[in-house]
Amino acid sequence: MIIAIDGPAAAGKGTLARLIAAEFDYAYLDTGALYRAVGLAMLKAGMNPADSDQAAAASEKLDLSLIDDPALRSEAVGSAASQVASVPTVRDNLLYFQRNFAVTPPNNKKGAVLDGRDIGTVVCPNAEVKLYVTASPEERARRRTSEIQMRGEVANYATILADVKARDARDMARTSAPLKPAADALLLDTTELDIDAVFLRAVRFIKSKA
Ligand code: CDP
Ligand code: CDP
Repeated sequence: MIIAIDGPAAAGKGTLARLIAAEFDYAYLDTGALYRAVGLAMLKAGMNPADSDQAAAASEKLDLSLIDDPALRSEAVGSAASQVASVPTVRDNLLYFQRNFAVTPPNNKKGAVLDGRDIGTVVCPNAEVKLYVTASPEERARRRTSEIQMRGEVANYATILADVKARDARDMARTSAPLKPAADALLLDTTELDIDAVFLRAVRFIKSKA
């Protein structure tokens, strides 16, 4: 069983994906972390994430240890990730790892949950379950702001809202694997739903497909 979860930044994809993976004992892959790792590697090397040739080169050898770097979650790295994510060669270079994880999940798990932007449309178009998780930009910026503040860091709501909107626009407008719901995805607008309510709806849908 492959469960694909897509949607814009801070919609609650990762939270939902982790709960689903725990419920069904499936493996979980945060595919955004792969794009973030490429962006972070470039920033660390003093490269410009807007340079497509440099981004393509940086994605040739993915440094998976960067996934555990505390800087991975910063908004600066999120922006760099969305810049490198518009480069087709970068997407191609990350595709094999993602498909392999979905088809042969680690630890002999019977299923895989992947979250990102193009899982249901490009990475796993044959996934049995596709969920598209969204929420208003204001609510997503509010969630991201409190998340950062809970880590004890300073966060400015207005800056984060502008950043979320810029990233949405870039992710939806790019020609290579743009963010959009798959035709057969269950739409979950979480603006007014708490995590438990979203999880219950998702589980009901998954059980109806099993
Ligand atoms: O956690 P958040 O939703 O803020 O972002 P993320 O999932 O970590 O993804 C960071 C960036 O990577 C996104 O803005 C996308 O541009 C890109 N991405 C992508 O293009 N395709 C994916 N499957 C996952 C992420
Ligand atoms: O993975 P993605 O960037 O889509 O979002 P996330 O990291 O799962 O969620 C972003 C924040 O929103 C987290 O702090 C969640 O606890 C919170 N959240 C929420 O308040 N209500 C929801 N229905 C889903 C997530």
